[in-house]
Amino acid sequence: MNDNPIDDYKANILVVDDTVANLRLLVNLLAERGYKVRPASNGSMALSAARTEPPDLILLDILMPNMDGYEVCEHLKADEHTREIPVIFISAVSEVLDKVKAFAIGGVDYITKPFQVEEVLARVETHLAIRNLQRNLKDKNEELGKTLQQLKTTQFQLIESEKMAALGNLVAGVAHEINTPIGISVTAASVLAEDTTDFSNIYQSGKMKRADLETFLDTARESSRMILANLKRAADLVQSFKQVAVDQSSESQRCFYLKEYLEEIILSLIGNLKKTKHTIKITGDANLTLNSYPGALSQIVTNLVMNSLIHAYAEEEAGQIQLDFQREGEQLILQYSDDGQGIKPENISQIFDPFFTTNRSQGNTGLGLHIVYNLITQKLRGTIQCESQVGRGTKFTLKLPITQR
Ligand SMILES: Nc1ncnc2c1ncn2[C@@H]1O[C@H](COP(=O)(O)OP(=O)(O)OP(=O)(O)O)[C@@H](O)[C@H]1O
Ligand SMILES: [Mg+2]
Repeated sequence: MNDNPIDDYKANILVVDDTVANLRLLVNLLAERGYKVRPASNGSMALSAARTEPPDLILLDILMPNMDGYEVCEHLKADEHTREIPVIFISAVSEVLDKVKAFAIGGVDYITKPFQVEEVLARVETHLAIRNLQRNLKDKNEELGKTLQQLKTTQFQLIESEKMAALGNLVAGVAHEINTPIGISVTAASVLAEDTTDFSNIYQSGKMKRADLETFLDTARESSRMILANLKRAADLVQSFKQVAVDQSSESQRCFYLKEYLEEIILSLIGNLKKTKHTIKITGDANLTLNSYPGALSQIVTNLVMNSLIHAYAEEEAGQIQLDFQREGEQLILQYSDDGQGIKPENISQIFDPFFTTNRSQGNTGLGLHIVYNLITQKLRGTIQCESQVGRGTKFTLKLPITQR
């Protein structure tokens, strides 16, 4: 039993031969096998038949008057509607068959007259099968192309919605962070406003005592101190939120010696370092130049060093911080490491997330590494990876292009 509809389809074959006896013989032979056969007794009939209804296969005699088989084949191959139809040439043994030419102009096979029935059928079937496979492949290819396109669209949408989700989280985080200092400021300002009203009432009633004045001055001093401190905290937060959105235009790129520049960055941190016992070592080729954004690099290294100072070591501990770099082709491999307390495995995947911090109580916001990540991936078009072992230390591996486009 055959339940494949393709197998029920009877191939359509065009037979071209100027010798009537041959033509009839072939037509009958194929029709008996169930093929749909159309005869043509010369080249131009063959071409018009092929163009009106392109067959699945053409059996084409070579030696014919007016237009020989080679020429018919050339016309077929020149027309995009008939180009794909497989052509099997027929030639008499007595004729000199130019096999090279037959294949060169696009024939797929040849049969010699007088034919052996089984051979003709075998060749016809083989080439029909190949043609079918080719068609299937073409369909599959088109399908694949469409699927790929769909995948790309979906991927784009996913990235977009992920970005939106990230943005949503960021906005929620910003709102949450900024809420506390603003809230405290509002409370302090309200207290100040109320007390000022009370104070002014007492003053106007003419019953003001020295103690009233002193109490009011205390309140005013304390309230304004709180308002100032909290507004400053809010302003600082706004400053760091601004850095999260990596500004692509603010700084122009330039060529600089990497080692010298790294040394300058460390020198600029001397205020934070001199109170500690840590040592910082920079190793790498002093002649290596980078064509990049030095400001971004400075921000990155500063954040990494500050993190080591804040999170990696206990007070009085003497840490070893190391910056190694080397060139690998068009890439710079920059490794930053400390030998501090390390990061817990369950925290590693979150350290680049905005607002992830283990140090909120000390006033850290958890934006440092998020800013570092954005600078590296967006501005410098590189990558950053973190490895850490609790008790052993933390290592960041940065891969950056030597030259920014
Ligand atoms: N060198 C390090 N050693 C140990 N832990 C680290 C190190 N660097 C980062 N971390 C961990 O990663 C967390 C996130 O770092 P990130 O710089 O993003 O935030 P933060 O330093 O806590 O806050 P902010 O940078 O906004 O002041 C830190 O809270 C800390 O737990
Ligand atoms: Mg930090």
